[in-house]
Amino acid sequence: MSGLNINGYGDDLTVNGVRIGDLTPREHEKIELDKGGQNYSPLENVVVSKVKDSSTLIARKPDPDDVKKYIESELLDGLCCYSAVNQGQLNETIVDSVIHHLKEEKLPTVPRSIRHKYMSAFLLSATGVTNMDKVIPKVAGVESWELTFKICRRWGYLKKRIPKDKGIIVGATGNFHGRSLTAVSMSDDPGSRDNFGPFVPGIELVEFNNVESIRSLFEKKGEFISAFMVEPIQGEAGVIVPDDEYLPKVSELCKKTQYIISS
Ligand SMILES: Cc1ncc(COP(=O)(O)O)c(C=O)c1O
Repeated sequence: MSGLNINGYGDDLTVNGVRIGDLTPREHEKIELDKGGQNYSPLENVVVSKVKDSSTLIARKPDPDDVKKYIESELLDGLCCYSAVNQGQLNETIVDSVIHHLKEEKLPTVPRSIRHKYMSAFLLSATGVTNMDKVIPKVAGVESWELTFKICRRWGYLKKRIPKDKGIIVGATGNFHGRSLTAVSMSDDPGSRDNFGPFVPGIELVEFNNVESIRSLFEKKGEFISAFMVEPIQGEAGVIVPDDEYLPKVSELCKKTQYIISS
């Protein structure tokens, strides 16, 4: 019989009779393998339970003496949260603001079809800190990348006058932009691509950290290229920092040859 019986918080959180605080790291892993899609390979035998400070997590691991269900130990969080949101775990300014806005300001959730006073506050702040002319808020990393991809294509057709449907966006080998179909169409990682084709057309790859590679593609197909979308530091194929002169040279090339560089 199916159904949902859920109550409690923290270790007392109990879902259909299973108390979360009673699970061993192995049991967590088993539930994830049985009930979750396998789109990530997390660290084995490590289950994070809480935050100690901005870059230290408390994690449960198997007890080496095999007496307790698990032991708890500190885990250094080098990402200081997650990918692009590396503001530190439980950043006090953010936590205080969220609580204040929810409890005191009673901030409503509305669709974009109704104007919200905090959108103006957000736009003033975001353009102020980035020096950008305009900003569009997005939730996920891949969503912002995908929008940028579309804007670059449209810019190519409307401003650079690329012939209809002939536009090319260039990416770098070893890139990671997320898991949407467009992002995996730009990927060269077989694990991200296998059995997801056919892919989005109009994408070409050049070797990361190789200025000649992009220069030569431009010489061959420059009139069709609207953008080079590249991570300043690649984060999924390892942590790969390009040579100091790479991005300035590529940026110079993009200005001269009229295409956008974005990350
Ligand atoms: C460089 C980069 N781009 C895009 C993404 C995708 O972000 P999200 O998972 O929020 O869609 C990630 C996520 O790790 C990332 O590291």
